[in-house]
Amino acid sequence: MDKSKNFFEEALKLFPGGVNSPARALKPYPFFIEKADGSKLYSVDGKGYIDYCLGFGPLILGHRNREVLNAVTEQLERDWLYGAPYEAEIKLAKKIMRYFSTVEMIRFVNSGTEATMNAVRVARGYTNRSKVIKFEGNYHGSHDNVLIKAGSSALTFGMPTSEGILKDIAAHTLVAPYNDLEKTEAIAKKYRGNLAAVIVEPIAVNMGLVLPEKEFLKGLREICDKYDALLIFDEVVTGFRLTLGGAQDYYGVKADLTTLGKIIGGGFPIGAFGGRREYMEKVAPLGKVHNAGTFNAHPISMAAGLKTIEVLEETNALKKASRVAEEIAKDMKETAECCKINVEIHQIASMYQVFFSRKEIKNYHDVNAANKEMYQRYHQMMMDEEVYMAPSQFETCFTSSAHSDEDVNKTIEALDDVLRKMSGGSSEN
Ligand SMILES: Cc1ncc(COP(=O)(O)O)c(C=O)c1O
Repeated sequence: MDKSKNFFEEALKLFPGGVNSPARALKPYPFFIEKADGSKLYSVDGKGYIDYCLGFGPLILGHRNREVLNAVTEQLERDWLYGAPYEAEIKLAKKIMRYFSTVEMIRFVNSGTEATMNAVRVARGYTNRSKVIKFEGNYHGSHDNVLIKAGSSALTFGMPTSEGILKDIAAHTLVAPYNDLEKTEAIAKKYRGNLAAVIVEPIAVNMGLVLPEKEFLKGLREICDKYDALLIFDEVVTGFRLTLGGAQDYYGVKADLTTLGKIIGGGFPIGAFGGRREYMEKVAPLGKVHNAGTFNAHPISMAAGLKTIEVLEETNALKKASRVAEEIAKDMKETAECCKINVEIHQIASMYQVFFSRKEIKNYHDVNAANKEMYQRYHQMMMDEEVYMAPSQFETCFTSSAHSDEDVNKTIEALDDVLRKMSGGSSEN
């Protein structure tokens, strides 16, 4: 019996579903980690997986990057918690503002969830309005305001995705289909005068990888201007991954409020929300929108984040990570074509994902219609080859500057093998 299975049996008695976050619940049981280094995750069962999950996004430089390690060790040796201000938080804030011109003031928190929760609160506090539009299939963390999906009733009230969320709370979150400006505007119009904000993943990475159509983000900006609502870009994943300046820089669309996380903490817990001074001046203790946290702007996260961004500035790490994703996506496309498997492959910068689908994938509905059983089979077969792709169709694969040519070659070989084997089964996907 392997060690992971033994650990999982123990974990099942201790944690709901045996895990501390649902995305970790691989079937039939997750592999338990012995250690991680560079591009690899090593399991307690003696396997070494090439990791394309990278902690679900933060590790743009790979695991245990030496420069980040040194920065963190230095900070640890000094001390690790103050409950008082210090210089590194100013340095990280300035670093972020250098690339995000719309962020004039910022607050550091501990997770992306906290970041979006507070951004929505600021928008409501500033506008004195209650309604927020989000997009079907976009994930902004696990708080009540955004954990809402649309049923067929996209133009009416949201339906809570989770039990325990009050209908009264869900009723203030309106859900529109991603990439659909017409429906978004219809909702904005219906709630004219009571729309506080539109929150969006500028590139959707939590329903696989779905890119915004050409005019989508610009159109959202226009809708927000027209209906006097704030535009919140959730750049928890895209910030410092797509480009240093995230999606706002890449697509040339300015948000009113921005949320960040993941990479800006270099692999340690972090989140941040920021924006124009007039909105952020609403935040306590300056204003009356409350936010506080024992661990806000934690010294270890500041040290790791600062060093990570410095490395990104001083090296070609972003380019290197992107090249890895490009090569994998290109090979997958060619092999799938060759094997006559219907796939749609999306890739941008250091992110990619495959959908077993004949149809173009533009929104949650399309993702849901893709063959998810085939995806699970592909994932399991890649695991057998010691390549750890995103564990669900609703996640995205990430690459890092730590992935070597050897990793890419091994991944491509495994992909070729797996897709060929899959084509031996049904290609009617
Ligand atoms: C776009 C986006 N926003 C927010 C979050 C929530 O971040 P966290 O898990 O740090 O709370 C995530 C998490 O994956 C995310 O992908």
